Amino acid sequence: MGKRCLITYSSITGHTEKVALKFKETFEKNGWQCDIFKVRKNAEDILRPPVDIRSYDFVCAGSGLRAHLPYNEILNMLRGFRTGMDPRITLRFRDETIPYISEPIPEIPPHKEPKTDHGKIILGPDSPKAVVFITYAGYEFGPKEADPAALLLALELEHIGFQYIGRFCCPGKYVDDPMPRTFHGDIRNRPDERDLLKAQMFIEEKLEEIAERPSLLN
Ligand SMILES: Cc1cc2nc3c(=O)[nH]c(=O)nc-3n(C[C@H](O)[C@H](O)[C@H](O)COP(=O)(O)O)c2cc1C
Repeated sequence: MGKRCLITYSSITGHTEKVALKFKETFEKNGWQCDIFKVRKNAEDILRPPVDIRSYDFVCAGSGLRAHLPYNEILNMLRGFRTGMDPRITLRFRDETIPYISEPIPEIPPHKEPKTDHGKIILGPDSPKAVVFITYAGYEFGPKEADPAALLLALELEHIGFQYIGRFCCPGKYVDDPMPRTFHGDIRNRPDERDLLKAQMFIEEKLEEIAERPSLLN
């Protein structure tokens, strides 16, 4: 496996960004070349991202949560890579669009016959790898509140051809009150140094897992 990594994420209040930067530092310490791309709410980032996700050996995709879901920016950029089309075409099937993009939506390309746009995907040891990272408040249920968002990002990445090998989730400050009755208690200083150390260890463990070593069976 090569050693090129892309860290891509959306972050409104900066918590997910802290994790992204710690990931980058950890990849680089381990000899990887690492690009980082923050997806913002604009047509350039979402419709014409300046990265070619398929050229990487490892992708980390991250987001904060709003109403249980990852931010639409990162999700829509990944949808664009998955389908090779403007993500608003897919969103139309859900009666949704991207309101801040004003350029016209292209026509849906006609289906090729026989249809080639769906088919079973089998990922294996040679597939490039992906992890997902989420910062969240988790007031009611804690870590499991991050699961749907993490798995949604993971599914998009698997569609693109990356084998999903794990997720890192940690609390990120929500409001300015201590909120002691919540699952994690007072998270006003999260993610903190301990969370970022865990983020570093998470990446180090994943790199150990995928390291190429001579097999006992060879
Ligand atoms: C309007 C709003 C809605 C949120 N909704 C959720 C939610 O549904 N579940 C959750 O666990 N956290 C929720 N959060 C907390 C954020 O996900 C958390 O603060 C996260 O760290 C923000 O990431 P960012 O700083 O990278 O944008 C919400 C925060 C805001 C401001």
